[in-house]
Amino acid sequence: MIAVGSDHGGFELKKAVCRHLDSRGLKYKDFGTYTDESCDYPDFGKAVAKAVASGEYESGIIICGTGIGISITANKVPGIRAALCGDCFSAEATRLHNDANILALGARVVGEGLALKIVDTFLDTPFSNDERHIRRIKKIEEL
Ligand code: RB5
Repeated sequence: MIAVGSDHGGFELKKAVCRHLDSRGLKYKDFGTYTDESCDYPDFGKAVAKAVASGEYESGIIICGTGIGISITANKVPGIRAALCGDCFSAEATRLHNDANILALGARVVGEGLALKIVDTFLDTPFSNDERHIRRIKKIEEL
């Protein structure tokens, strides 16, 4: 189950991401925002991050205008490794190396076509489970 959320800046792209998840038969919960009215990205970054950190959701997708504010927010929640990706190489690498559990997207940065490819790459790439990557992730968690 995937937790999805955005502010108003990411609202339209989030709708496209949800349609895409539907087309792939992937289950998700939309934590808002539910309109294009101006709102605060920390509210939605926090809701998705808490949902993923609780273990109830395997991964999350968060979107704001740049992807920056909402990823900064999500990364404040213990256990969350949110990766802002603007290309498929980064989306693949952050799953393989960082075991990122949330993908952040900037709706004013990437177009819909690229964003959906990034989503697929992120969701379809497993963690490498390499010892060196496990060691490095542990060091993040010790901070
Ligand atoms: C909203 O205008 C914008 O600041 C927000 O979507 C995001 O880009 C913040 O990092």
